Amino acid sequence: MARLFPNSFAAPAKIARADGVYLTDTTGKKYMDASGGAIAVSLGHNDSDIIDALDAQERSVAYASRSVFTSQSLEDYAAELGTVLPMESPYIFTVSGGSEGVETAFKMARAYHVARGEDSRHKIISRRGEYHGATRGALDATDRPTYDRLYRPWLGQTARLPAYFEYRCEVPTHPQGCDDYHVAALEELIAREGAETIAAFVFEPVTGATTGVACATQSYWLRAQEICRRNGILLIADEVMCGHGRTGEWFACDHWDIRPDLLVAGKAASSAYWPLGFVAVAESVGRVIHESGLFVHGFTHSQSVVGAAVGLAVLKKMKQLDLVTASATKGKFFADALTATFGDHPNVGDIRALGLFAAVEIVADKESKTPFPRSAYVVEGIQQRALEHGVYVYTSVGMADGTNGEIILMGPAFIATEEELGEMASRLGRAIGTELLA
Ligand SMILES: Cc1ncc(COP(=O)(O)O)c(C=O)c1O
Repeated sequence: MARLFPNSFAAPAKIARADGVYLTDTTGKKYMDASGGAIAVSLGHNDSDIIDALDAQERSVAYASRSVFTSQSLEDYAAELGTVLPMESPYIFTVSGGSEGVETAFKMARAYHVARGEDSRHKIISRRGEYHGATRGALDATDRPTYDRLYRPWLGQTARLPAYFEYRCEVPTHPQGCDDYHVAALEELIAREGAETIAAFVFEPVTGATTGVACATQSYWLRAQEICRRNGILLIADEVMCGHGRTGEWFACDHWDIRPDLLVAGKAASSAYWPLGFVAVAESVGRVIHESGLFVHGFTHSQSVVGAAVGLAVLKKMKQLDLVTASATKGKFFADALTATFGDHPNVGDIRALGLFAAVEIVADKESKTPFPRSAYVVEGIQQRALEHGVYVYTSVGMADGTNGEIILMGPAFIATEEELGEMASRLGRAIGTELLA
């Protein structure tokens, strides 16, 4: 008998319906979806505009090979993305998700350099404390020991920079010296590896599943961009989790005037109504890649017409309801609600938020920021109790030292009302409870 590969829950609830910010299981129990799955469902569940767009596209053209055809929905989607991306006249290559997007961006970066006669440029730089995906290249750029432990014999090509993580900053002169420290680390790494070997620097402008809503300063980004440009290194912004309005701007790069050469998105690109991601490539880079004919790459579901129709409907809805502004203003309300509900709890070390993107770091000792030992599975216990209290939250571990460290990561749908956001905070507060204390 064939069976579904099990998830980590012994007896997971079977979801039968989803509407707005609610999931309902087969017993009729309702859960508020405070994290939109893995920070993906940005418009809420059962949005009839998105479903209608998907349905209409399926009925007209469900599939047309990208190698010989294009379609109106793809052309329109690319044009519409151009109005919101932090890049001039970008080329768009759509894929089925974030990891595929990151792999595609790495290959594009390599193709660009080879096309310009710089064959030696192949290395990727990434920062500690960031997640870029589960496939081999993306995993190599990722810093999440629990994910890559088994596969290290296949990995090890990526050059690493320190994490930019304010709450657990290791810079001796913190906070004044942080930018200098990180800029020096970038320059040292480039000198050590040799600029002529480096293809690209991939980064999450606002971190997600690893350190949770951590970000660097504007002055760091000004300097880091200048260093990369001077050394011929392409900038790849990984906005798979933080893009599409999540942080209160269309893209997180907008907060610090980051102008990436490539930008990868996924998740909220389709609000999870279709497996969709994309790479946007700056015109000057994309043209070189295209004209060289060297970029031989693609997946069966690249440039999906249905994905494009869904992505386009999502962008239109976001504009129509001004959901980027909603994310910024509701995000402030949500952060205040989280802080008011459990900000002074002895085991809540930090609450970080930007737009409707929030992380709650759970610690054994607030003063020293010491995490609970991973063997205690504290955050899993909170997640389980949260489900009992009727709210689903996403969790992540390992941000303190690779193994220990626990966060609850939230990204409610932009259509959530203040009342619903307050209720999510209150249910999570009950789940954190009073009995943690080390
Ligand atoms: C920043 C970032 N990059 C890449 C990925 C990989 O995306 P996917 O899971 O769609 O392959 C994720 C997924 O969480 C992510 O958060």
